[in-house]
Amino acid sequence: MTEIHLHDPQTLYRHWEDEQWSPFRIDLAPDAEQWQVMGGEDRSLVHWALASLMVAEERITTKFSGLVGAYGTEEEATFLATQQVDEARHMQFYARYQDEVVADPATVAEHVARARQQLSPAFATIFDEQLVKAHERLTAEPSNRRAKVAFVTTYHLVIEGTLGLTAFNFITRYLESSGQLPGFVEGYTRIHHDEQRHIGYGVWFLREAVGDEPELAGDVRSTLGALLPAVADALTPPDRDGTDWDALGASAEEIREFALGGLTRRLKIIGVEL
Ligand SMILES: [Fe+2]
Ligand SMILES: [Fe+2]
Repeated sequence: MTEIHLHDPQTLYRHWEDEQWSPFRIDLAPDAEQWQVMGGEDRSLVHWALASLMVAEERITTKFSGLVGAYGTEEEATFLATQQVDEARHMQFYARYQDEVVADPATVAEHVARARQQLSPAFATIFDEQLVKAHERLTAEPSNRRAKVAFVTTYHLVIEGTLGLTAFNFITRYLESSGQLPGFVEGYTRIHHDEQRHIGYGVWFLREAVGDEPELAGDVRSTLGALLPAVADALTPPDRDGTDWDALGASAEEIREFALGGLTRRLKIIGVEL
């Protein structure tokens, strides 16, 4: 079970100061060797997972600044500035991984363009339509509480808290149990640690917002309703049909239960019933 940290932004910022890491200090040499000999379905599933992470981190790095501008207190502005740095750092780690393990060195944009070719339309629905729309709305109206709730629900609760945590759980469990790609697992684990702080902020903010104005629960629910079908599709590997499949040592049902179980626990803390 993933622990949920409900700290205020100042405490989360202090944690950030104590938990710095560099995406350039992780040893990727063993991964580069393993990648060359990795075969068959393993390689294509891991390749798909890496493509998903590359595109996701580019999107959430460049579609975040509107939230920094929509801060409430100076402590919240401070924390949000650190999250923006974290997301850029994550994008840099995946780009370096593409440079040194998967492909030839290229710009981030070239890696993202190549990775996009592997992804399903559900990915575009979440990252190019819904996230972009929520970010544009918040950027245009930074003091609109409903716009901020819709954005944090999309970004922190759905993308980071549901899609991201679920992907991390099953991808690292599989790679660790098979002793594969240790540099990737190390970097992804650091990223996951940062993500816990981000999700903690999102749950904190939504609980405060819904606590102050209970009618905002309706905005959380409608945002979830618009996104969850695409999240289920985005967690389905290519070439899998329907709802009954296996990937990376997990069944579709196990993955679905993990994703929905975590989301339900967070909604309960926030004070929103589905
Ligand atoms: Fe991230
Ligand atoms: Fe994040």
